[in-house]
Amino acid sequence: MASSVITLSRHIVEQERLYPEATGAFSDILYDIALAAKIISREVNRAGLVDIVGSAGRFNVHGEDVRKLDMFANDVIFDAMDHTGNLCVMASEEIEAPIPIPDKFPCGNYVLLHDPLDGSSNIEVNVTLGTIFSIHRKISKGERGTMEDLLQPGNRQLAAGYVVYGSSTMLVYTTGAGVHGFTLEPSIGEFLLSHKDMRIPDPGKKIYSVNEAYYKRWEPAQQQAVDQLKDEGYSLRYIGSLVADFHRTLLYGGIFMYPSDTKSPQGKLRLLYEASPMAMVIEEAGGRSSDGRKSILDVEPEELHQRTPLYLGSKSLVDRTEAALAEGA
Ligand code: AHG
Ligand code: MN
Ligand code: MN
Repeated sequence: MASSVITLSRHIVEQERLYPEATGAFSDILYDIALAAKIISREVNRAGLVDIVGSAGRFNVHGEDVRKLDMFANDVIFDAMDHTGNLCVMASEEIEAPIPIPDKFPCGNYVLLHDPLDGSSNIEVNVTLGTIFSIHRKISKGERGTMEDLLQPGNRQLAAGYVVYGSSTMLVYTTGAGVHGFTLEPSIGEFLLSHKDMRIPDPGKKIYSVNEAYYKRWEPAQQQAVDQLKDEGYSLRYIGSLVADFHRTLLYGGIFMYPSDTKSPQGKLRLLYEASPMAMVIEEAGGRSSDGRKSILDVEPEELHQRTPLYLGSKSLVDRTEAALAEGA
C-alpha cells in the first residue's frame, strides 16, 4: 500500500490550520522558499555544465571569495521574495547590509535571513551543498523593516529550515510543530513529504563531526572532549558543509562541533543565518544546540554577521560536552 502523497504545499496548508490567526502570508513565504530551492537545485545539479561554478570575482563581508553559485542563489531568493508583500526586510550571508524591500513593493510582517548557499568550498568538487533560512516576525514600528527586525534571538524564530542539495534535494523545516522533511521529485517539480516528524536519535550512532585540523588551536577542555569521544570508539565524519553535516547528525544522532579557537575566538559559523535556524530545527527534533555555554536560541544578537561557536546534536552528547567545557573554563 503506497503511503499517501503529501506535497509541501499541502503540508504547509495543514500546518497553517494549527495557527488560527495565520493569514496565509507565512505559508506563502515557505512556498516561495521552496520555489527558490527548486531553481537553485537545478543550477547546483548542472554546475559543471554552465559557466557558473567559478568565482564571482568579489569577496563578501567575511573576506570569503564569493562563488558565482553563491550570488546566483542569493539573487534567486531575493527575486522570489522581494515583490510578494510578505517581508519587511531580508539579510543574506553574501550581502553586508540589511536588504530592504524595494520602495515600489509593499512591506509585510515577516523577516527572512538566509545563507543562500552553504558549503561553497565544495561546489567545484560535486560535494553536497545547502541553503539555510530563518523567519522572524516584524517587531519594529515603522512600515519598512529595520536592523531591529533582523537582530532577534533564535528563540523568537517563527520558522527555520534548510535545503540540502545532495544525492537528492531535500527541504527540512519546522514552525515549532515538529520537524518535517520533503524530498524533491524532479519529474513533477514537487517536494513530497518523506520524513514526517523527524526526531534525532539519542545517543544514536557514535559519530562526531569537527574539523580536527584546528585541534592545536582549541582550548584544552575541547581537546579532551574530542579525545574522550575517540577513546569511546566514535567515528569522525566531516563533510565541510554545515547543512550536510547537520542533516546526517539529525538522522543518525551524534554531535557536530565548530568550536572557537585561538585564531577564531568566536568560531566561524554565523549566528543569525546558520546557527540559529539549525538550533531551532535540532531542538524541535529533540536534540540540543549550544555556543559552548547555553542554547544558541538564547544568544542575543548584536551584529548582523556575528559568529558563534556551535555545537549541535543528540542532547546527551551536547550536554556532556557543554559540561566538560564549563569544567575546563
Ligand atoms: P559557507 O559556504 O556558507 O561560507 O559555509 C561554509 C561553512 C559551513 O558550511 C561549514 O561547516 C564550514 O564552513 C566549514 O569550515 P572549515 O572549512 O573551516 O571546516
Ligand atoms: Mn554557510
Ligand atoms: Mn554561504
